[in-house]
Amino acid sequence: MMDLRSQFPQIDIQVRGRPLVYLDSAATVLKPQIVIDELTRYYSKDVANVHRGAHWLAENGTSQYESARAEVASFLGAADSSEIVFTRGTTESLNLVASSLTLQLKAGDEIVLTELEHHSNIVPWQILAERVGAVIRVARITPGGVIDLDHMRSLLNSRTKVISFSACSNVLGTTIDPRLVTSMAKSVGAIVVVDAAQAVTAGPINVVDWDADFVAFSGHKIFAPFGIGALYGKKARLEALAPYQGGGSMIDRVSFEKTTWAYVPQKFEAGTPNVGDALALGVALQWYRSLPESERYTKAKALADSVRGQLSALGGFDIYGAAENSALVSFNMKGIHASDVGSILDQQGIAVRTGHHCCQPLMQKLGVPATIRASFSIYNNRDDAERLVAGLLKARELLS
Ligand code: ALA
Repeated sequence: MMDLRSQFPQIDIQVRGRPLVYLDSAATVLKPQIVIDELTRYYSKDVANVHRGAHWLAENGTSQYESARAEVASFLGAADSSEIVFTRGTTESLNLVASSLTLQLKAGDEIVLTELEHHSNIVPWQILAERVGAVIRVARITPGGVIDLDHMRSLLNSRTKVISFSACSNVLGTTIDPRLVTSMAKSVGAIVVVDAAQAVTAGPINVVDWDADFVAFSGHKIFAPFGIGALYGKKARLEALAPYQGGGSMIDRVSFEKTTWAYVPQKFEAGTPNVGDALALGVALQWYRSLPESERYTKAKALADSVRGQLSALGGFDIYGAAENSALVSFNMKGIHASDVGSILDQQGIAVRTGHHCCQPLMQKLGVPATIRASFSIYNNRDDAERLVAGLLKARELLS
């Protein structure tokens, strides 16, 4: 196999006169050449609108687009590719479900979220709750930053209609086996929605094993371009859901008196789809799955673990979440604001994310305005981890 790092052209760039150390992969991963090439190939030779048109290019495009959908289904372990709706990403997938459930929920119904959710798994539910008069209940997390399943269980009752949670926290890296939630949701018949934005690179996924009703993810976190992602939904759940947007492709028949819908998944794909990025997502997933598990899961976690261990040993750092088996480490330097540390790292060509990571309620829970998050991926190496620790020591020297 070709050296993994060399497949990422951006990893070799210089930033602020220093070789880049890219440690912001939880925000988005760099793209391998094979995905960049797929975009060029498609836009050079194969452009045509899909699901319409009488010509060869349209048919060829439709077949490639549907093959990409099958690739997503296979990656997720879905039983049928009709259970995959292409979306712009996790946020749009979650908005689709929340918005389309408007007709199924009523005043007094309850939606259970957790303290570690990203804003994209809070705000769409608040919009829904406000529209129908539903109530949001929030499951606590443990001191280690894992969803407290006992507390979640205590929130469930006959009014619980939806449980929506992240399978892997974007701030803490902590994970939860979705089966633990789906089995408890059964007792009250709640719909389970999984935000898998970070989970897609944290370990193998099988939505049938998970028994989740809906699963959302973004392509750009798994080596595909921005602006493409998917929503998995159990066939019966998708069929029962009202359309999210209206337009071409999502209809069966249209008249001014009444319109009927296309079958799923077309019912949820109004308008011309993002064909090129969908094909690139298919290639990204195929490429990613061809890598050995040690490359996909073990290496980045070992690097994050080594940084976590070094920061603990050095002292003077607050480390958040007990995520020993995660590819990210979230921390603060005692007495210093995260953004000041981030700026000094940036001066050294080291890219981390600082801030609330779109998780303001979680920051309130942690009692901090922001954290520094270093997130590793398959292209990082020990040198990257060493430069981060050295960069942090330099920041401490300058800022103390
Ligand atoms: N949700 C992404 C992150 O955690 C953008 O950085």
